[in-house]
Amino acid sequence: MKRVYINNKWRFWQEGQESVVTEVRLPHTSKEVPFHYFHEKEYQMVCFYERKINIPAEWKDKRVFITIEGAAHAADLFLNGTKLSEHHCGYTSFKTELSSNVLYGQENTITIKVDSREQQNIPPFGYVIDYMTFGGLYREVYLEVKEKAYIEDVFVRTDIDSQKLKYRIRVAGKQEVNDRLYLRSMLIKDNQITELGVEEIKEDEVELSRYIENIKLWELDDPQLYKLKVELINKEITLDDNVLDEYVIRFGFRKASFEKDGFYLNNKKVKLRGLNRHQSYPYVGYAMPESMQKKDADILKYELGCNAVRASHYPQSHYFVDRCDELGLLVFMEIPGWQYIGDEEWKKQAVDNVKDMILQYRNHTSIILWGVRINESSDDDEFYTRTNEVAHELDDYRQTGGVRCHKKSSLLEDVYTYNDFVHDGKSPGCEPKRKVTSDFNKPYLISEYNGHMYPTKAFDWEEHRVEHALRHANVLDAVNSQEDIAGSFGWCMFDYNTHKDFGSGDRICYHGVMDMFRNNKLAALIYACQQEDDTILELSSSMDIGEQPGCNRGYTYIFSNADSVRMYKNGNFIKEYTSADSPYRNLKHGPMLIDDFIGNQIIKSGEFTNRQARILTYALNYTATHGYGKYPLKVLWIAIQCLTIYRMKPSEVIGLFNKYIGNWGGTSTEYKFEAIRNGKVVKTIVKEPMQSMHLETNVSHTQMCERSSYDVSEIRIKIVDDNNNQMYFYNDPVSVKVEGPVELIGPEILPVRGGMSGVYIKTTGKEGKACVTLGNAQVGYTSVEFNVSVEETVDL
Ligand code: GAL
Repeated sequence: MKRVYINNKWRFWQEGQESVVTEVRLPHTSKEVPFHYFHEKEYQMVCFYERKINIPAEWKDKRVFITIEGAAHAADLFLNGTKLSEHHCGYTSFKTELSSNVLYGQENTITIKVDSREQQNIPPFGYVIDYMTFGGLYREVYLEVKEKAYIEDVFVRTDIDSQKLKYRIRVAGKQEVNDRLYLRSMLIKDNQITELGVEEIKEDEVELSRYIENIKLWELDDPQLYKLKVELINKEITLDDNVLDEYVIRFGFRKASFEKDGFYLNNKKVKLRGLNRHQSYPYVGYAMPESMQKKDADILKYELGCNAVRASHYPQSHYFVDRCDELGLLVFMEIPGWQYIGDEEWKKQAVDNVKDMILQYRNHTSIILWGVRINESSDDDEFYTRTNEVAHELDDYRQTGGVRCHKKSSLLEDVYTYNDFVHDGKSPGCEPKRKVTSDFNKPYLISEYNGHMYPTKAFDWEEHRVEHALRHANVLDAVNSQEDIAGSFGWCMFDYNTHKDFGSGDRICYHGVMDMFRNNKLAALIYACQQEDDTILELSSSMDIGEQPGCNRGYTYIFSNADSVRMYKNGNFIKEYTSADSPYRNLKHGPMLIDDFIGNQIIKSGEFTNRQARILTYALNYTATHGYGKYPLKVLWIAIQCLTIYRMKPSEVIGLFNKYIGNWGGTSTEYKFEAIRNGKVVKTIVKEPMQSMHLETNVSHTQMCERSSYDVSEIRIKIVDDNNNQMYFYNDPVSVKVEGPVELIGPEILPVRGGMSGVYIKTTGKEGKACVTLGNAQVGYTSVEFNVSVEETVDL
């Protein structure tokens, strides 16, 4: 029997407030919180979740299990008042057998006591933490019904060099059935079934290996997936009725290995380009269902052009990792923890966390590395010998890493994974491997960079936002220049709520290349430009001269992955830029520096000789980017020539600057940029003063569907001008009106921050059409329509 999800109709109350009971659905957060400026104590509580379940009489001779996928951070599970189990990690699941305590053919009560307080003696707690550790039963809960003998686990590995599929099967309850038991396995690809044979089981654990012809590899740009189906059969093996249990694992054929000189996927070298991801969202903390978990993987792959992600700093939703499997997005998964190592009891829990993480996630093809150290903790050889041993024993297929912020620390893992925060905007983007690692012969990976080195808000001034973007470019460029660095993970994908001890005072760490709603900051474009599927074209500046210090243009960059970009000013062609114009020599599509605002306009004006026009153009362009004064010899020499040979007055030169570049006090300018691919214009942007504005929406999905639980769709919002340019300083509120079988998560009056915002809507168990209307009198109103369907689910 498939999983029976029990995510609806839970009664929820907080300890000490037993009279305030609400009916809730899972995923559930112990407390919905404001966007920012709230205390982390708000979600810390002991709370209870209770569910009545009718267990059918026919299940009497079977075994019944319940799995709690995520209870933050400690849980006790009771059935009809009897405590059956407890779990002490908010980031791994736990499974409990209910069989002997269930009242068959009757109503049963499941109660889960969830403790989301942070003073427990378990990872990641004990000292400070730079992220909020939201509480609640925030992932799903399901039942499984098995025969007396059943398949407990299947672990799949592949060897692409010998074309072997290897799998280890563990069967439970063999001694409880008298019959001989067999395992039948099948390989399924695109609905084609290949029988892999039948064998009798003699031991509880069986290791099998099969040669597979014509395997299609799991590649980053074509992640081919297969399914392995294993059936447990008794007696007559030809009769379907005799299938006691089946287990299906989805996997891909791939070989992942970190070597001294970098990372290899399927024997080809790949530079890892990733970001760190927390699992939090505005208002609901950790509690987001399948669609939103998957969406983050899609954003990383398609919008940010990453090939890897670090699940910092704990195991994340299977939905998220499933999607990484489907997309070809490599995952670095790690145990919970943040800088602090506790006492023996605490460490024992951490070792258990390694075990649970690996047993629960090791069939995900996308996972290439286990993090078995507490993020950024100090060396503890005895402790980390244990975590490494457990990891290697449970998974001989993957290497271990362990994130540290110390150079030359004790290396018990297979890969030296290091948070390199050396870059401060001017210094080199990263340290060379030899300066950091304690064993040059082992692989080396940068697990974090940037982050707190330059927090950036979507509504910061332009120069700040550009600097943020360039710092990401600087590190990526430096990492690419060093062959022996396997890759890097930037800190981080999006802003996140954090504890009082960190962040900008409003309980947010503004470290993301996106805001909390997953809206791009400029830095996101550095990553987006490294993919080829979607054409990116944006400018680092709005070209509003008054936003620049001293009204100087300064350095202006084109962010694009096109073959070339043509720049026009007031309709006049100025220059065509290619990646050769990028100072970033090691990025395929690095930011291109605009060094010409004039083109041949001065030459064409006919007012000067060709030579004079050329040197004037050079000097004016130089002034535009570098500002007045502090000229190099070449520009000073031009100035002398203008004053002496060409007898120009300084006011005349200033006049030319204002005419061709500055436009301060003059009529503003229209800049147009065209992205060219294969000789064709594929995207155009125009920068000129806004005339009107409107609200632009980017909707995750409009066909919403309830499956195992409710569905959530996100509308990302931007306020843009008539040329669709984001209005970075628009911070006024918009209203949100929701109609139909959905409800709003978060406020009905929504602040816009830096010209961006977001709305989450949640299904309510009913089908039909829904509509969300957003806006205000100034930007107008925009409606988005949704279709909500509900799939039949078993209701116990
Ligand atoms: C690291 C830490 C991250 C985050 C980051 C900010 O030290 O591992 O969790 O706090 O700094 O840059």
